[in-house]
Amino acid sequence: MIIKNASFNASYPGILKMPDDKFPEFAFIGRSNVGKSSLINMLLDKKSLAKTSGSPGKTQMINRFVVNNKWFLVDLPGYGYAKLSKKHRGSLKKMIFSYLIKRQQLLNTFVLIDIRHKFQRIDKDFLIWAGENQIPFSIVFTKSDKIKNNELNKNLSSIIKELKKYWNPLPPHFISSAVNKTGRNDILSYINELH
Ligand code: GTP
Ligand code: MG
Repeated sequence: MIIKNASFNASYPGILKMPDDKFPEFAFIGRSNVGKSSLINMLLDKKSLAKTSGSPGKTQMINRFVVNNKWFLVDLPGYGYAKLSKKHRGSLKKMIFSYLIKRQQLLNTFVLIDIRHKFQRIDKDFLIWAGENQIPFSIVFTKSDKIKNNELNKNLSSIIKELKKYWNPLPPHFISSAVNKTGRNDILSYINELH
C-alpha cells in the first residue's frame, strides 16, 4: 500500500472526547518504550510525526494520525511504566482499556512485544485480557535490529509456543524494526486487507 499522505489529527484524553466518525482505526499498544510511536513513524515514512523518546512514558494521550484521508493510526500510552504514580498508572490504564473495549471504529490492535526479551508476564497478561474481551489483535515483535538472528528465532519460538497454549489459530504476527524498516510492507498490506 502506498502512503499518499499522513498527518497528525488530534490528541484525546479519553474515548468520550473522540468524534463518532466513519473511518476505521488501527491502534498500537504495548509496554512503555517498546517502540509504538517509532513503528507508527516507520509505517508512515515520517521521521517524527509520533513523538518518541529514549525514556519510557512519553505518550500520555490517545494520539490519532490520519492516513490517505481514509483511516487512522492510533498511538496509545504504554502499559506498566513503573515510575508513574499508582494513581496515574491507574488512570492511563482505564483510558486505554475503555478505548480498546468501547471504540466502535477500532478494527485491529497491534500489540507490540520487544523481541530481545523472553516472554514477559505483563505482555502475556495483556494478551489474555485482550482475548477475554474479544479485542481483535495481532502481534508485532519490535527492535529486531538489536538482536542476532539466532537469538531472535529462539525468543520467537518460545513465545509462539507459549501463545499456542491460549490461541488456536494464532493471531497474525510480524517482526519489525523501526531502524531498517523490517515488517513495513507486511504490516501495511495487512492494514490494507482489513478495511
Ligand atoms: P512510550 O510512548 O513511552 O510508551 O514508548 P513507545 O512504545 O512509543 O516507544 P518509542 O517509539 O518512543 O521508542 C522508545 C525507544 O526505543 C526510542 O529510543 C526509540 O528510538 C527506540 N526504538 C523504537 N523502535 C526501535 C527499533 O525498531 N530499533 C531500535 N534499535 N530502536 C528502536
Ligand atoms: Mg510512544
